[in-house]
Amino acid sequence: MIFTVAIDGPAAAGKGTISRAVADRFGFAHLDTGALYRAVGVKGGDPVVAAQTLTPEDLAREDLRTLEAGQAASRAAVIPQVRAALLEFQRRFARREGGAVLDGRDIGTVICPEAEVKLYVTASPEIRAHRRWLELGGDEAEVLAQVKDRDARDMGRADAPLRPAEGAVEIDTSTMTIDEAVARAIALVEARL
Ligand code: DC
Repeated sequence: MIFTVAIDGPAAAGKGTISRAVADRFGFAHLDTGALYRAVGVKGGDPVVAAQTLTPEDLAREDLRTLEAGQAASRAAVIPQVRAALLEFQRRFARREGGAVLDGRDIGTVICPEAEVKLYVTASPEIRAHRRWLELGGDEAEVLAQVKDRDARDMGRADAPLRPAEGAVEIDTSTMTIDEAVARAIALVEARL
């Protein structure tokens, strides 16, 4: 069975948790596409070459989840040749046998517009920054500034900007518990299966 769940949305909206839960529930494979851009961002050197030569070891680095890696990823992600280098791998993953969940910024708009389920998971910048701060610590005002900075870059870039895909169902997790958000996503997938 070919079945793709495309989950897009801004940083720290809950995409990762929802994606993993949906993948677990239905036995689908999961790809965190942000990790590809993070690995490119932290690899250093020419980001286009980094994207073209990405290895499994690059994706297993321990420092991919830091705020700095997120910023580096967002900066590398505006470069069209970086996005082009990562496109085929993501497309093949999306249409693999057995079902796939991909989360990122352009899954429903560019990578897999034919996805069977498209979700746009979002929350207010303040709530997202608070969640990131609980996870990573540091100065909360600085975390909020970084979240806003990344939103502006990810939504404002010319190539594959973050926006809800046509036909995407929006899940605003600002006032939801994680269990409620997961249950909503699972119900939407179940309805389409
Ligand atoms: O989801 P994340 O925070 O791990 O993503 C890190 C950055 O990578 C994000 O700010 C923009 C970029 N990205 C992208 O441009 N397209 C994707 N599909 C996933 C991430």
